[in-house]
Amino acid sequence: MKPTSLLLALASLSAIIAQEVVTVDQGEQIQFDAEHNATSLIGTWSSGSQSVQTGPGFANPRNRSFTYPRNTGVSYSFTDDGWYEISRYRLQANGQDPTCITGLIFWVHGKYQMLSNGSLYMIPNGDGFQQIQNRCSANSNQILDYNETELYNSWRIYQDATNGFRLQMQQFDNQSLAPQYQVSTTPNMLPKAQLTQTQTQVLNRRGLNGAANAATLLKRWWSGTD
Ligand SMILES: *[C@@H]1O[C@H](CO)[C@@H](O)[C@H](O)[C@H]1NC(C)=O
Ligand SMILES: *[C@@H]1O[C@H](CO)[C@@H](O)[C@H](O)[C@H]1NC(C)=O
Ligand SMILES: *[C@@H]1O[C@H](CO)[C@@H](O)[C@H](O)[C@H]1NC(C)=O
Ligand SMILES: *[C@@H]1O[C@H](CO)[C@@H](O)[C@H](O)[C@H]1NC(C)=O
Ligand SMILES: *[C@@H]1O[C@H](CO)[C@@H](O)[C@H](O)[C@H]1NC(C)=O
Repeated sequence: MKPTSLLLALASLSAIIAQEVVTVDQGEQIQFDAEHNATSLIGTWSSGSQSVQTGPGFANPRNRSFTYPRNTGVSYSFTDDGWYEISRYRLQANGQDPTCITGLIFWVHGKYQMLSNGSLYMIPNGDGFQQIQNRCSANSNQILDYNETELYNSWRIYQDATNGFRLQMQQFDNQSLAPQYQVSTTPNMLPKAQLTQTQTQVLNRRGLNGAANAATLLKRWWSGTD
């Protein structure tokens, strides 16, 4: 796979997230009652088999490395003092060549705002990073910065009879993220501080032409069931 086709593959599963800096909430004011959120957002949430979780064991910002989980998924954590952390891992099949699977893995943390119109606005701390692996690309194993603001239009927490509390979030385009279940009411997170010193030589940004574009294209995560 050539770098350009890798970028196209990434483009096909990504779109640009809304960028405007939030000043005043727009839209309907939401009642954050038990019907809207059966429990508090504070804590750690994870999709699917819960293999992907925030906190130690997923990303190591000090040397910008990942420990690959057994399965794909997403995990979000929120603290009561306004910090969030996100871990995400996805495999993307290539339509033309099924053996050319692209792996996308992300870690980011920062400050969130719970807007009164029901949206969540997330402002990254500047030390997030991601890795794109493609077995068929010579330019695989890129480590790239990830420092994008993210707007989630809405969130709700339901109580499922068998699986407990379920967090349902909608992206900026109203697509639903995979449902996430509560892992713990205490957020499992890496320290709420700047964790990467400076952007160092650990990075290999030269290989992939327009790697910065790839980072931009990856702003949107995905909807789905895993
Ligand atoms: C909530 O307000 C923010 C800030 O104006 C806006 O960006 C977002 O789209 C609004 N959300 C909804 C669901 O209207
Ligand atoms: C729902 O979320 C709001 C806003 O964070 C919080 O004040 C409230 O306690 C939550 N409701 C429940 C039932 O936990
Ligand atoms: C990063 O640091 C961790 C913990 O010290 C270590 O286990 C891991 O092998 C390191 N990874 C890389 C790519 O240097
Ligand atoms: C990360 O993004 C935030 C929000 O846009 C910005 O304030 C901050 O300066 C950025 N940090 C870096 C290192 O780019
Ligand atoms: C998302 O849903 C809200 C509420 O139904 C609607 O006002 C908004 O236009 C939708 N946005 C998009 C991008 O579809």
